[in-house]
Amino acid sequence: MQINDAIIYATHKLNSSNSRRVDSEVLLCSVLKCNRIKLYAYPEQKLSDTDQKTFKKLVKKRSEGYPVAYLTKQKEFWKHTLLVNENILIPRPETELLVEKSLELISLYSLKKVLELGTGSGAIAIAIASEKPKINIKATDINNDVLKISRKNAELYKIKNIKFIKSDWFTNINADNYDLIVSNPPYISNDDPILNNSDIRFEPSSALVSRDSGLDDLRKIICKSRAYLKDYGWLIVEHAYNQGVKVRELFIKNNFTATTIKDYNELERITYGKLL
Ligand SMILES: C[S@@+](CC[C@H](N)C(=O)[O-])C[C@H]1O[C@@H](n2cnc3c(N)ncnc32)[C@H](O)[C@@H]1O
Repeated sequence: MQINDAIIYATHKLNSSNSRRVDSEVLLCSVLKCNRIKLYAYPEQKLSDTDQKTFKKLVKKRSEGYPVAYLTKQKEFWKHTLLVNENILIPRPETELLVEKSLELISLYSLKKVLELGTGSGAIAIAIASEKPKINIKATDINNDVLKISRKNAELYKIKNIKFIKSDWFTNINADNYDLIVSNPPYISNDDPILNNSDIRFEPSSALVSRDSGLDDLRKIICKSRAYLKDYGWLIVEHAYNQGVKVRELFIKNNFTATTIKDYNELERITYGKLL
């Protein structure tokens, strides 16, 4: 089987995916340990028997809905290629908006101490830390297996200004006068059909699902943040497209201003505010 045959084979097998061509190429690159340019430069190169077997296995798993990122064990986010596994939420493009807004607040108001709650792969903290090497970031997660990967990702990019710690939201955090708290917590309601209907079903529900129609963890974070922030500190969170009104209410009730940003699909996705 040549490279071009392998791509034709996979695009045919993945006919239910709307990203089948890209998925096929990304999977093939991960087997051949090359970039996509090589696939176009050497379409007639032959795959070894082992590579062919491995590729077919990956294509089969992908055809069952298994996410590409878990098959390749990596995902691009911001300027980094991050390690991921089945314990880790696959970082989403929308979350880059959270990073962009956080960086804007850090620059505008010279913020120096940042707390990230629920770091997962470390995507948010690593993106912020790499752009702002002089600030201090504490990044938390409740799951030690998750923290192993976020620490590895930070090491991979020689990021020195993040301290990773295990914490159930604020339980292991001192009221330490943070300038900014940032979080993309679990926010999907446990009866949301999306949890069964798509590739999401392979991701850890502990990273996705929250009680009380998806608002429980957002509420905990918004209600407790003020005790950990400086006067006029900032809080920024990601939430579901239909939670904007509720999240703004929670911000205002807890003495924050509240502004919501829409994502690339024009859906309310990020809310931020300043403690008054
Ligand atoms: C939606 S994921 C976000 C991961 C990453 N920050 C991102 O944006 O890609 C939520 C993360 O919160 C963590 N988490 C869930 N409950 C938590 C809790 N009570 N305290 C701290 N972290 C928690 C999960 O393990 C998961 O890594």
